[in-house]
Amino acid sequence: MMLWLLLFALRVPLGLDTHIPVPDDNPLRAETVALGRKLFFEKQLSRDGTVACATCHDPNRAFTDEHPRAKGIGGQIGPRRSPRILNRAWGKSFFWDGRAATLEDQVVQPITNPLEMAMPLDDAVSRLAAMPAYNQLDVLTLRRALASYVRTILAGDSPYDRYIAGDRTALDAQQQKGLNLFRGKAGCISCHLGPNLTDEDFHVTDAGKSIDKGRNGAFKTPSLRQVAEAAPYFHDGSAPTLEAVIDHYDKGGTDPEMRPLRLAPDEKQAIVAFLKSLTGVVREGM
Ligand code: HEC
Ligand code: HEC
Repeated sequence: MMLWLLLFALRVPLGLDTHIPVPDDNPLRAETVALGRKLFFEKQLSRDGTVACATCHDPNRAFTDEHPRAKGIGGQIGPRRSPRILNRAWGKSFFWDGRAATLEDQVVQPITNPLEMAMPLDDAVSRLAAMPAYNQLDVLTLRRALASYVRTILAGDSPYDRYIAGDRTALDAQQQKGLNLFRGKAGCISCHLGPNLTDEDFHVTDAGKSIDKGRNGAFKTPSLRQVAEAAPYFHDGSAPTLEAVIDHYDKGGTDPEMRPLRLAPDEKQAIVAFLKSLTGVVREGM
């Protein structure tokens, strides 16, 4: 028991807290994680057998996809963008509006969502339980396994992390200027902070073009890890590039936290260059 805990701790990429929070009743076990991994790639969890979790959360795209808004079974388009699911073990609530309190709650919701996988949970579980690969699967085991696998998806060890760890050459001059703006004049750090570059809280940024109200008009601050790999941006995928995101912040919004920034063109470019330094290593499984 102690041994695998130690080995697992060693696999946590540079820049993250080496302690991974895990609920008492669902400890990280290699077997549970392996089952969760299998389920994450299992298309039979969807009604017509065409969509897996990994369809929308593609490991080769920082665990998101290329669609501005999620594409579920039958090509149906949902209201929101698939988020990058990275370092969610440290999440305080889940979904753009935070409506799921734990990962164990969250992971079954895409299965039953009519626009995503559209399978009643009992049907999904009995279909899988009839397959030799999943003998005796039940809902609780499925919840725990998927949540455990999601907890092992970790992103870190980026040039930014190496810079913070003391390697002053890890960021070039433009990226260092971008980091200073991020922490200073542009005020990004007031919401995008800590090892995961998020306060896990909700803010009114006026981002997005949809009528989606999120949580009383607010949306959860996303982590910025691997962000350069994962266009388009915002909860409805309405910002095609990082430059478009910066222009949105520059303009400001209706909330006092969103005052206009008046950034010069070279300052905007420096912030974009800095955001690219947040691309590092993504690991999953154990
Ligand atoms: C059709 C695309 C699609 C499929 C399939 C899908 N997801 Fe998602 N996922 C999304 C979207 C869209 C959101 C955000 C929804 C919202 O905020 O209302 C999301 C949110 C999440 C989150 C919350 C992340 C956060 O930081 O708040 C997790 C975790 C997650 N999905 C895991 C899974 C798992 C596990 C599966 C398979 C059981 C799965 N997803 C299947 C599109 C998908
Ligand atoms: C008041 C809090 C707040 C401040 C300040 C802030 N952000 Fe954000 N950021 C958010 C929230 C909330 C979202 C999600 C908005 C949405 O999609 O509705 C977000 C989204 C983003 C995204 C898109 C990520 C994705 O996955 O779609 C990027 C990139 C980003 N912010 C970078 C920055 C930068 C750079 C700054 C400084 C110029 C900044 N943010 C300032 C709260 C903030």
